[in-house]
Amino acid sequence: MSNLTGKTAVITGGNSGIGYATAKKFKADGANVIITGRSLERVQAAADELGVKGIVADVSDLSALDDLVEQVKNEYGQLDILFVNAGIFAPAPVGQNSEEMFDTQMGINFKGAVFTIEKFLPLLKEGASIINLSSINAYTGMSNTAIYAASKAALNAYSRTAATELAPRKIRVNVVNPGPVSTPIFGKTGMPEAQLNDFAAAMQDRIPLKRFGQPEDIANLVAFLASDEASFITGAEYNIDGGMNVNPILS
Ligand SMILES: NC(=O)c1ccc[n+]([C@@H]2O[C@H](COP(=O)([O-])OP(=O)(O)OC[C@H]3O[C@@H](n4cnc5c(N)ncnc54)[C@H](OP(=O)(O)O)[C@@H]3O)[C@@H](O)[C@H]2O)c1
Repeated sequence: MSNLTGKTAVITGGNSGIGYATAKKFKADGANVIITGRSLERVQAAADELGVKGIVADVSDLSALDDLVEQVKNEYGQLDILFVNAGIFAPAPVGQNSEEMFDTQMGINFKGAVFTIEKFLPLLKEGASIINLSSINAYTGMSNTAIYAASKAALNAYSRTAATELAPRKIRVNVVNPGPVSTPIFGKTGMPEAQLNDFAAAMQDRIPLKRFGQPEDIANLVAFLASDEASFITGAEYNIDGGMNVNPILS
């Protein structure tokens, strides 16, 4: 339940998965929605399906972010909601992380998220809501996720300080930490399908609710945090993981 009537929202990485489902939810709740992504074809196709505005901007490219902010400013003026969602998952074992892999993952998941916020700040209204999409991996030692986990943990740390510093403007900053969610992100890792299926089955077995999250599960929480119903919530983090983080060793 949320009411976003009349609010304007930017969602980075809105052409797929959690961002796409959230764009749909925001629109259904009455918001004007702008989605972004890296590919003109994918962004435009999603924007057309959703009936929202699509703008191409790679969050790891600071000049592309400047252009995005300028376009949003010219067309919409100010913003009420910033959903910092764009991200990639590039698993690799410790000892096999190249500089390029490090730079790409940190460049999108952490640097891209930070500069999305830094550059949109002048457009954010008093009382605006920033929601940062992190991961429970920020707190786990799951194999093959060292750099991904670090990129998300860094985002959570930045978010806490941002919540403190932006409070005088009544801008709220909150973090959502999903567990495994059924989206195309896993298929983009390049892992063979059989390995992906084994990985998914093993993960699902560790989730007390015995299912992956759906993008809509996350969208519902994000829409609540974006709404005025959450007006006393800032600097908070929400795990949304089917209980994975409290999985007992023995039940
Ligand atoms: N699915 C999960 O299990 C899970 C769990 C915890 C956290 N998360 C986080 O949730 C967020 C959304 O992921 P998802 O699962 O919905 O995956 P997804 O379906 O792959 O969506 C990711 C979105 O981010 C966009 N994106 C990636 N790099 C970008 C860049 N440099 N600039 C702009 N847009 C970019 C993608 O666009 P392209 O079409 O160009 O790739 C896509 O629209 C990510 O931050 C991810 O880390 C996911």
